[in-house]
Amino acid sequence: MERVSVEDLNVSYISSTGKIDALQNVSFKVYDGEFVTMVGPSGCGKTTLLNAIAGLLSFRKDVLIKGTTIVQNVRSIGYVFQRDALLPWRTVIENVALGLEVKGVSREKRMSTALGFLRMVGLEGYEGRYPHELSAGMRQRVALARALAYDPELILMDEPLGSLDAQTRTILQDELLTIHKRTRKTMVMVTHDIAEAIILGDRVLVMSSRPGRIKSEYKVELPKPRSALNSRLDPEFNRLYRLIWDGLKEEIQAEQLSHP
Ligand SMILES: Nc1ncnc2c1ncn2[C@@H]1O[C@H](COP(=O)(O)OP(=O)(O)OP(=O)(O)O)[C@@H](O)[C@H]1O
Ligand SMILES: [Mg+2]
Repeated sequence: MERVSVEDLNVSYISSTGKIDALQNVSFKVYDGEFVTMVGPSGCGKTTLLNAIAGLLSFRKDVLIKGTTIVQNVRSIGYVFQRDALLPWRTVIENVALGLEVKGVSREKRMSTALGFLRMVGLEGYEGRYPHELSAGMRQRVALARALAYDPELILMDEPLGSLDAQTRTILQDELLTIHKRTRKTMVMVTHDIAEAIILGDRVLVMSSRPGRIKSEYKVELPKPRSALNSRLDPEFNRLYRLIWDGLKEEIQAEQLSHP
C-alpha cells in the first residue's frame, strides 16, 4: 500500500529578489512500512520536500506549487524538524508528552510513555529540565522522542541526528533500526551522511543540486535485522557508498560551477 505519493511536484519560493525554484518534477512513492532515506547537496530542496509532504506549504502565499503530494491512510504525521521546535516554556518530559496530550491520553500514561522514550534516547534524568538547559544534540534527541511518543503512522525526519557526536549517533541509528523493525512505521528521513542513509534505508533517494530532482534511487539489500556496525562491515555497504558518493559528488561540483 502506498503511504506517500509525490507526483511531478514543482515548488518555487517567491522572494523580494525573485523566484527561486526549489523542486522540479519530483515523483516518488513511499510504501507502507518502508524506511526511505534521502541525501542531496545543501540547499537542494530536501526540507522543502518534507514540508510539502507534511502539508506545510499549501497555505503559504510565498510558495508556488505544481503537482501533487498525496498522503494516504495516515491520521497523524510525526515530524522531526531540522531545527528542533521544542516549546521553551515546557520541561523536557512535557515536550515529549505534547502529542499525547493532544490525543487525550491520561496524565499518568503520558508521563510513563514519555519517560520510556526519553530513556531510549539516553536522556533519563533530564525530564525536568527546560530546552535552553540542553545542548543542541540533546534537544534533537528530545524532538525525536516526541515524534516517536506521538505514535503516528508516518514519521518525517529532517537530519534528526545531525548535531550528535559520532558515538551517540551510532547508538541512535541502532535505536531507529530497532523501532522500525518493531513498529513497521513508514519513515522518511533526510540526512547529509551517506553511511547513515545506507544503514537505515530500505531505499536511498539521491537528489540533484537545486532545483532538486530525484537523480537516482538505490535499493539497500543489506541483511536484516541490521545494526550500524554490521552494515558498515558488509561489502554491499561499500558498493552502495561508492555509487551514491559518485552521484552526489557530481551534483556538488555542478552546484559549485553554477554558484562559484
Ligand atoms: N522561505 C524561503 N524563501 C526563499 N527561498 C527559500 C525559502 N526557503 C528555502 N528557500 C530556498 O530554497 C532552496 C531549498 O531550500 P531547502 O531548505 O529545502 O534546502 P535543503 O536541501 O533542506 O538544504 P540544507 O541541506 O541546507 O538543509 C534553497 O536554495 C533555499 O535558499
Ligand atoms: Mg534542510
